[in-house]
Amino acid sequence: MKAMKIFPGQFLRGEIALPGDKSISHRAALFTAMARGTAKIENFATSADCASTLSCLRDLGIEIEQSGATVTIKGAGKMGFREPSRELDCGNSGTTMRLLAGILAGQDFVSVLTGDDSLRKRPMKRVIEPLIGMGAEVSSQSDRAPIRIKGRTPLHGIHYHPPVASAQLKSCILLAGLLAGDKTFVFEKTPTRDHTERMMRFLGADVALEGDALVVSGDAVLAARDMRVPGDVSSAAFFLVAAACLEGSELALRGVGLNPSRTALLDVLRNFGVDIDIANEIEAANEPVGDLIVRGGAMKTPDSNIINGGMIANLIDELPVLAVFGTQVEGGLEIRDAAELRVKESDRIQAIVENLRRMHAAVEEYPDGFRVERSYLKGACVDSFGDHRIAMAFAVAGLLAEGETEIEGAECAAVSFPAFFDVLARVVGGSVPPAAAGG
Ligand code: S3P
Repeated sequence: MKAMKIFPGQFLRGEIALPGDKSISHRAALFTAMARGTAKIENFATSADCASTLSCLRDLGIEIEQSGATVTIKGAGKMGFREPSRELDCGNSGTTMRLLAGILAGQDFVSVLTGDDSLRKRPMKRVIEPLIGMGAEVSSQSDRAPIRIKGRTPLHGIHYHPPVASAQLKSCILLAGLLAGDKTFVFEKTPTRDHTERMMRFLGADVALEGDALVVSGDAVLAARDMRVPGDVSSAAFFLVAAACLEGSELALRGVGLNPSRTALLDVLRNFGVDIDIANEIEAANEPVGDLIVRGGAMKTPDSNIINGGMIANLIDELPVLAVFGTQVEGGLEIRDAAELRVKESDRIQAIVENLRRMHAAVEEYPDGFRVERSYLKGACVDSFGDHRIAMAFAVAGLLAEGETEIEGAECAAVSFPAFFDVLARVVGGSVPPAAAGG
């Protein structure tokens, strides 16, 4: 694909059904594979990342049928995986690599996890160290993928204090805990998304809260259950921000996952006066789901223009698009305590700062975040840095800017949201020439 061109938009209107949540889809596939029985998973994420999880599971001998967004998986039980005949390619997906590492640490064979250039640069020491502590033999060069894992059966349970607030790390250890001879305790200082705990409970495994610790037992057994994956609130974020900033917008996002450990973005937007209603709330697969109706234009001076501390983990994936939001609001926006952004699919702090500067925004870079002032954005040539969330965040910036914006490498949006630019073109109005026209 050549660079994607985005033109200014006047409003967003209509209805969107979002692709299935990426985090929940990974877990649905991995946990069903470890379960007894067969389950049909509907609205499975269309993302390239979740396709990587399915492909690794197939390489591990799991039977999977897929028809569009419906995936049927025959669980093999916790120890039913087969030694893979090649390296397991996790593509761009950190979640695939870190969660699978937990499962493979407890298997009776050798496997190698690898991924694309971006994933092979990301820190894996955080999972390697505790898995070694649980008895697996894990080796790598400089704590980066490829990672070679010689599993141990059973693993030893551990008392683990994660050094970073990471749901991937927590989930890796809880999964390994299901394959241990005794109990595993994870003490989370800063709470992170709790999809793993919810899904384990949904499939019948006890994840108890004992004092400050999440506790799983190696005795726990998972039973496959049909489920429908909620729409991805992190994909909804781009539309919420764009609609919030364009007066005259009214957009309904149907069937979005509203897990409280993922919805801090809604609190931030509301704090700035954005009008968001929630309707038709239900529960699906132990996760809250509902429709979001957002109307643009109405903004107020917020209580605070700083996002930091414990809130960061709750909106870590929304920070690129929040940076764009910050260019539109009174007093701008400051993000701190977010050094983890530097080790995502790209160095997101650097990518945000560089692209915003190219669009004439006033922005300051910090080791653990950035500060963006309210700015008049000008269309420019920006770079996705091969990072899906950067590509989509700067599509939103392009809608809000004067003149034409070109996004190099925009096709990486497919990592989480293959239809993003088509959906955007369908709901954006008043754009001259039409928004999101491929160049
Ligand atoms: C994810 C957790 C987050 C998030 C990622 C998905 C998950 O990563 O950024 O997109 O599914 O557990 P960390 O847990 O490493 O912060």
